[in-house]
Amino acid sequence: MDGEINIRPARPDDAAAMAAWHEEAFHGLLSARLGRKYLEYHYSGLISSPAGACFVAERAGAMCGFIGGSCAPRAGAAVSVRRLFSLAAALFSGRIGIRELPALLRYKRWFSRVKLPAELESLLVARQSRGRGTGKKLMEALDGFFRARGVTRYCVFNNTSLNTVKFYLRLGFKQTGEYDHGGHRTVCLIK
Ligand SMILES: CC(C)(COP(=O)(O)OP(=O)(O)OC[C@H]1O[C@@H](n2cnc3c(N)ncnc32)[C@H](O)[C@@H]1OP(=O)(O)O)[C@@H](O)C(=O)NCCC(=O)NCCS
Repeated sequence: MDGEINIRPARPDDAAAMAAWHEEAFHGLLSARLGRKYLEYHYSGLISSPAGACFVAERAGAMCGFIGGSCAPRAGAAVSVRRLFSLAAALFSGRIGIRELPALLRYKRWFSRVKLPAELESLLVARQSRGRGTGKKLMEALDGFFRARGVTRYCVFNNTSLNTVKFYLRLGFKQTGEYDHGGHRTVCLIK
């Protein structure tokens, strides 16, 4: 795919595509297992919230990547209730097994300990557009959004099965902790 990369703020009508891309790219990870409806709600919330930072990368007028983050991560009763409903729906439909619950709660306790003013929640570049600076440009847009609000430190949780920890290290993040799920790990990176 040729052409300049253009970064623009995400619009409400991007949420459905972002949810679909997320579900496919992060298949098997907890957020994706909560389901497409939850993801669409999540991205719609980020796009409409003043604390939400959501940018889309376009090439030749078509989305080739996006980034989502927030200056108020994991905040809001409505978000928590929605997440709880989505978890219940995932359990009911068998997408998440009831036996996994204790491990999920342990993991939640672990990442809840990281208390920073902002978080990069998701970053995704289409396969055919990778390796051309799109991820870096999206990160710069997120950095700018946070900086304009006085936020200089933020974190990202990265599952090592994605093989992208080095990308974050390359962009100046430092690894500060990791959680062993037994088979794969989640790394906490801070910038
Ligand atoms: C991680 C990802 C966003 C990188 O996007 P990209 O557009 O290919 O990245 P860029 O071209 O902007 O790369 C920026 C720099 O990081 C390096 N880099 C990119 N991906 C890397 C990887 N997986 N491992 C090591 N280095 C990497 C590039 O070589 C480049 O280095 P340079 O500045 O010296 O040239 C993309 O691979 C992706 O969407 N992966 C799947 C989803 C994912 O894992 N997201 C992160 C979890 S939230």
